[in-house]
Amino acid sequence: MSNGDGKIKLGVLGSGSGSNMQAILDAIQDGSLDAEIVLVLSDNPDAYILERAQKAGIPAEVIDCGGYKTRFPDESQAAVAEKLKAAGVEIVCLAGFMRLVKQPMLDVFPNRILNIHPSLLPAYPGLMAWKQAVDDGARESGCTVHYVDAGMDTGPIILQARVPVIPNDTADTLHARIQEQEHTLYPEAVRKVAASLES
Ligand code: GAR
Repeated sequence: MSNGDGKIKLGVLGSGSGSNMQAILDAIQDGSLDAEIVLVLSDNPDAYILERAQKAGIPAEVIDCGGYKTRFPDESQAAVAEKLKAAGVEIVCLAGFMRLVKQPMLDVFPNRILNIHPSLLPAYPGLMAWKQAVDDGARESGCTVHYVDAGMDTGPIILQARVPVIPNDTADTLHARIQEQEHTLYPEAVRKVAASLES
């Protein structure tokens, strides 16, 4: 399925720097991903992802979460689903989005919401997965792109990339190496999902 010009329409939700959104955008621009990012939304008005979107000429908006710090209230999810639909979004990419997406988003975009997580799920779900891996003495970690379901980081896995934990790794050095892999993995996973929708 596509919007008629062969390009699948993506909506991106992020709370931070947006380097994964940038990686998807770069893949689109270098012709390796036939897609278009039509809307970027952030729950954090100061997030750099919004600036990146604006620089690229992509509509970008702040999500009103009603003053809640971590909750993603039902009304906000309904408003986000509506905005994404109105923009013609076919696949929703969570890229460093730090709130739990659930109903009604999941009903509006069944099997069409993807998330990138910085570990080899099911290991280390939740926050700061790279730090969890270092603290745990893991010898290997990585990143996962998966479909979002009602659990936290539990949905079906689309692609994973392995990253070894090396001696003297800190949480930050490991995260930096995981992010390098994320930037290849996410565009590849979007390509795979888009192809599955077209067939
Ligand atoms: C990424 O490393 C992503 O895997 C992680 O946040 C970072 C966002 O970076 N996501 C999670 O931890 C989700 N549980 P970015 O804003 O530069 O893309």
